[in-house]
Amino acid sequence: MRSTWLTLALAALAVASAAHASPSLEVGFYKHSCPQAEDIVRNAVRRALARDLGLGAGLIRMHFHDCFVRGCDASVLINSTPGHQAEKDSVANNPSMRGFEVIDDAKAALEAHCPRTVSCADVVAFAARDGAYLAGGIEYQVPSGRRDGCVSNADEVLDNNVPGPTDLVDELVESFRRKGLSADDMVTLSGAHTIGRSHCSSFTQRLYNFSGQLGQADPTIDPAYAEHLKQRCPWPSSDDQMDPTVVPLDPVTPADFDNQYFKNVLAHKVVLTSDQTLLDSPNTGGIVEYHAAAEDEWKAKFAAAMVKMGNIEVLTGDEGEIREKCFVVNSY
Ligand code: HEM
Ligand SMILES: *[C@@H]1O[C@H](CO)[C@@H](O)[C@H](O)[C@H]1NC(C)=O
Repeated sequence: MRSTWLTLALAALAVASAAHASPSLEVGFYKHSCPQAEDIVRNAVRRALARDLGLGAGLIRMHFHDCFVRGCDASVLINSTPGHQAEKDSVANNPSMRGFEVIDDAKAALEAHCPRTVSCADVVAFAARDGAYLAGGIEYQVPSGRRDGCVSNADEVLDNNVPGPTDLVDELVESFRRKGLSADDMVTLSGAHTIGRSHCSSFTQRLYNFSGQLGQADPTIDPAYAEHLKQRCPWPSSDDQMDPTVVPLDPVTPADFDNQYFKNVLAHKVVLTSDQTLLDSPNTGGIVEYHAAAEDEWKAKFAAAMVKMGNIEVLTGDEGEIREKCFVVNSY
């Protein structure tokens, strides 16, 4: 009897702390107000990926960059206006962020079915999940009920929010910790770099000017891979942010949502310093090794970490608004 009460009390505590961790997002939030919502988003993502498979990667990254600046509030989608640069136009997002038109397409279909009901922040969260599902069969339920923010400032993106490609492991751990995510979450989510692409400018300094020494390449890059990258990204033209040249983040299985990324880190065949540096600490290095050996476990952890990331500083209830068009705040 006594242990039953103890069990009940512990269960109640667990529920209470889970509720605290995710204010009031819930799976199936739109089941009465817009039952087709998640199908509409998935169909829009399906149409987009049929046209360009890489958009799945773009949508996963969009959710990350949204959640790390003012929480998951769709602030990344708002257009700049004369005299005001929005997040979209930070160097972390422009020109590399892609998939905005997929969100607009989904939102237009949602407005036709259920006007002013489904937030843009939820559309981004659903679309990221659908991108992972269509690229690699990862399926998970997305708690929803986020509301859209009304503020978006370009300056905030790289100001202790979105981490940069030259960050070292301690900075990355700290960056995720600030958002309530662990080092394990950080390594797990970095596995998203198993699909998609990088512009040369995100890593040319590593190939041609390592530690400020012109002509030196980072010795932690596999030499043959470094040579291959130099062919693709000549100096100095590729050091320019506006150079459109891209390379796959995963040179082995670029389009598959598999655990190849972690094998690449171990083989020193990754383009970003922020990926290679995961081996610089025993803790994160150990997690890389574990994921490289256990694909199913990584996929399950990835899904859970995406849900956790999707809870960052969300607006709920009557906070924020439900934007009618995702690229502009409502005018009333
Ligand atoms: C750990 C810190 C991270 C850093 C420093 C970082 C940095 C970058 C950079 C520099 C690119 C290439 C952008 C370009 O030049 O085109 C990129 C691409 C990408 N990132 Fe990350 N990232 C991080 C974590 C994440 C996380 C947590 C996710 C999602 C869960 C993610 C998903 C992606 C995806 C899918 C791409 C490919 C985008 C595309 O193909 O359009 N990244 N990341
Ligand atoms: C080389 O790196 C140093 C240190 O990061 C930097 O100050 C310098 O501008 C770089 N040179 C070129 C040509 O990019």
